[in-house]
Amino acid sequence: MKALVLTGPGQITWQEIEKPVLVPGKALVRIKAISLNRRDEWIKEGKYPNIRYGGTLGSDGSGVVESVGEEKDSEWVGKEVVINPNIDWGPDPDVQSKKFSILGMPVNGTFAEYCLVDVDRVQPKPFHLDLLQAAALPLGGLTAFRAMFRKGGLTAGQNVLISGFGGGVAQFAFLFARAAGANVYVTSGSDEKIARAIKMGAKGAYNYKKETNYSELWKTKGGFDLVIDSAGGDQINNFIKVLKPNGKIVFYGATNGLPAKLDLYRMFWNQLSLQGTTMGSDYEFNEMLKFVSKHQIRPMVDSIRPFSKLAESFADITLPNKVGKIVFQV
Ligand SMILES: NC(=O)c1ccc[n+]([C@@H]2O[C@H](COP(=O)([O-])OP(=O)(O)OC[C@H]3O[C@@H](n4cnc5c(N)ncnc54)[C@H](OP(=O)(O)O)[C@@H]3O)[C@@H](O)[C@H]2O)c1
Repeated sequence: MKALVLTGPGQITWQEIEKPVLVPGKALVRIKAISLNRRDEWIKEGKYPNIRYGGTLGSDGSGVVESVGEEKDSEWVGKEVVINPNIDWGPDPDVQSKKFSILGMPVNGTFAEYCLVDVDRVQPKPFHLDLLQAAALPLGGLTAFRAMFRKGGLTAGQNVLISGFGGGVAQFAFLFARAAGANVYVTSGSDEKIARAIKMGAKGAYNYKKETNYSELWKTKGGFDLVIDSAGGDQINNFIKVLKPNGKIVFYGATNGLPAKLDLYRMFWNQLSLQGTTMGSDYEFNEMLKFVSKHQIRPMVDSIRPFSKLAESFADITLPNKVGKIVFQV
């Protein structure tokens, strides 16, 4: 079968590899659609722990179960499924186990014609989505769901600010927060994306490349209960300024690195929290799928491309004009 393999630092190569051999407890999924995550590009660049060369990349995938290792799981055969990319989250809902990893590194992932996963990793595709849309969901949807609800505790009527609207995870945060009845504001580095967010129901939006201190936001909107961020860097101090007392910043990445300083004075006086999060538990994955079905949420898909364009598309994950997920038809 055809697979996109990490062959060395910065090197991804199409290879013809053996179709995985079915064993008890596993499901063999004929992959029909996949999507790119920033993680895939970080791994390619070598900026990720436990990198293994010779493995197939890819965390997001949907497809059809071709066969299962045990008769008791035979009901899955022929079903359209989405794959939970979590591996060994463990029993604690608050934090992943030491064995936790994510499909696609070090374990072989979805960027192949077939993917072998534990049978409990497959879940029925939400009915209202096609397989291409469903492939956009797993990693980004799960990360946003946990950040927003479990870690952020968002409820209807609260004010939430989501930074970097164009991001693959941020778009899910936006869609989920809106569905939950929150007042949603966004930041973006692009006026076009801001216009799109407003059209989709954002109550306000701020261009982080132009408005560097958000002081008007603090005065006019009464502050935010929650900020969801993955950029990090110095703008964390802006978020600290625009939070209501007892507000919270939940962050799942630090694309822009560390802040040079952190406004600890304002943080303790206003009883603020800075909360890290990562992916989510299996329970949250299933809750996320239910939420998506209940609210008929459709992921924002930037583009749909043929599988053959996958390797050359890695660089596009950082393109400034991208909104949402880049999806590939396998
Ligand atoms: N911990 C986890 O489990 C987890 C899971 C998923 C992702 N992540 C991490 O989270 C980050 C984003 O991932 P992704 O997949 O959503 O990436 P992505 O699709 O590449 O999105 C990145 C977005 O970041 C925004 N951005 C860039 N500079 C910014 C700034 N100064 N302020 C606010 N936003 C800024 C941009 O938004 P605009 O285009 O709107 O300007 C861009 O579209 C990455 O670092 C990734 O590794 C972590």
